[in-house]
Amino acid sequence: MNQSSTGNGKVVVNRAMSLDGFIAAPGHRMDWGAGRPLADFVAPADFAEIAAATGSMLIGRRTWEVGSNMEAQEPGSVDYPFTGPFFLLTHRPLDPPDPGVTILSGDIGAAVETALYAAGGKNLEILGADVAGQCLGRGLVDELLVYVLPVLLGDGIPFSPPGLARTDLEPISSTRSGDATILRFRVRAGARAR
Ligand SMILES: NC(=O)c1ccc[n+]([C@@H]2O[C@H](COP(=O)([O-])OP(=O)(O)OC[C@H]3O[C@@H](n4cnc5c(N)ncnc54)[C@H](OP(=O)(O)O)[C@@H]3O)[C@@H](O)[C@H]2O)c1
Repeated sequence: MNQSSTGNGKVVVNRAMSLDGFIAAPGHRMDWGAGRPLADFVAPADFAEIAAATGSMLIGRRTWEVGSNMEAQEPGSVDYPFTGPFFLLTHRPLDPPDPGVTILSGDIGAAVETALYAAGGKNLEILGADVAGQCLGRGLVDELLVYVLPVLLGDGIPFSPPGLARTDLEPISSTRSGDATILRFRVRAGARAR
């Protein structure tokens, strides 16, 4: 994504991942152990700093549904200190509608442009494996931010959806944060799939 047209905001794929590369357990459940939410693994200051740098979120429908189900079963389990605009990529309306969410559909490039503009110079976080794959495939992603969590899930939803083209990355940082390790990578512009 061309950052110069959008202030300093970056397009960031944001993921929690088990050490063996799964972003959710079988059945799509984000279970990192003993019922602990992601926020409990990461140092609060780091979590707050990442949230403060985020201006908007673009979320895939399945991620939305997994989050809604988790929240319904365990209130507070997907708490995130973020109050900015949410954009939901889906072909189907929400039932009931949610006035706090803008539904987008169709071209991923246009969706990213809309959501990044709404971030007002902060970062746009991309949530959802399929959506992130579309963004990576179109060369729309600036950075990957991965919370590596101390668990081997053995099975589940892999970090990359099938068919994702090779993407070369440049390491930015690796930080121990509470019980997690935060890895940041920049997508090498010249190496992006087009
Ligand atoms: N560990 C983490 O940090 C993390 C974060 C997020 C998600 N996850 C996990 O990732 C999994 C969800 O990822 P996913 O890859 O299955 O799905 P996803 O990316 O969350 O959502 C995919 C769905 O979004 C809709 N969609 C995508 N692109 C669209 C477009 N261009 N226009 C309109 N609608 C579009 C479609 O839904 P419809 O056609 O049905 O509308 C599509 O099936 C879950 O297991 C979740 O737990 C993990």
